[in-house]
Amino acid sequence: MNSVMPPHQRAGEAFWTSDDPHLSGNFAPIQSELDVADLQVISGAIPPDLSGAYMRNGPNPQFKPVSYTYPLDGDGMIHAVYFNNGRARYKNRFVRTRALDVERRAGRAVYGGFRQSGPIDPALLKPGDPDFFKNGAFINVLRHGDHLLALSEASPAYELTAELETLGEWTAGTAEPISLGAHNRRHPRTGVLFALEYSVQDPAVCFHEIDPSGRLTRSLPLTLPSASMIHDFVLTDRFIVLLIGPAIFDMAAAASGQSFLQWRPDLGTRSRCCRSMAANRSGWNSRPFSCSTSQMASSAAARSSSTTCATRA
Ligand SMILES: [Fe+2]
Repeated sequence: MNSVMPPHQRAGEAFWTSDDPHLSGNFAPIQSELDVADLQVISGAIPPDLSGAYMRNGPNPQFKPVSYTYPLDGDGMIHAVYFNNGRARYKNRFVRTRALDVERRAGRAVYGGFRQSGPIDPALLKPGDPDFFKNGAFINVLRHGDHLLALSEASPAYELTAELETLGEWTAGTAEPISLGAHNRRHPRTGVLFALEYSVQDPAVCFHEIDPSGRLTRSLPLTLPSASMIHDFVLTDRFIVLLIGPAIFDMAAAASGQSFLQWRPDLGTRSRCCRSMAANRSGWNSRPFSCSTSQMASSAAARSSSTTCATRA
């Protein structure tokens, strides 16, 4: 049990505590949004020609959760260290998602989590507010073109300014918000971003091609045997390799108070290989192939070769 104020918390600041080891001690969520103008250099020196920013994102619930499953629940918080002229400054901000706005209005956690999801009291919602799940946009942060994006999975990405003010759901130049995966792969030769959108309700995924300026140029829908959680994929020079583990979404289980995410090892791991547009501008070419991998989450780097996947180059 931890009831001691975390070392990063300011004295006098309202704070909640938790017995959950992922929400206490050194892992307690950070509630303060800070601007530190000139960071102390403890040793060495910051190269004067180093200019840019280092950012990270993570699950950091603002309000004490109704239900919490690490690392699948929380609110996004971006931490950034900016370097310029031999100096460094720090800033952190919550990603102001639509669900977080609902909870800020209520002054408490409203949405459940993967183990205990909605429904939400309609009296707390305005038209257009999320009515079942929170998209916390806490899994990754990515810059593509002039766009800084906070990413979740199977949910719209949120665009932020370089100073971490949330602009809203990103549309990639289209009329609607675009859902992106946590890991999206930029082709090192073309600068095209390949993004994976999967569905938590339908047995389908969609690969998006987003040009170097941040404009959606093409999408490829693919059907799957079941609605599956797909955290990552592999991009080679010529291929996309999709690895589909046996973690599936079960809306009926969620409605009965069970975990929305179900582990079904009897389904095995399946794979699918697509020839990417980077190599073939005339279109996509997709075919399934079997594989014995047990990959579930993040993927290692890969390269194309005659043995990369069971399809012709
Ligand atoms: Fe990951």
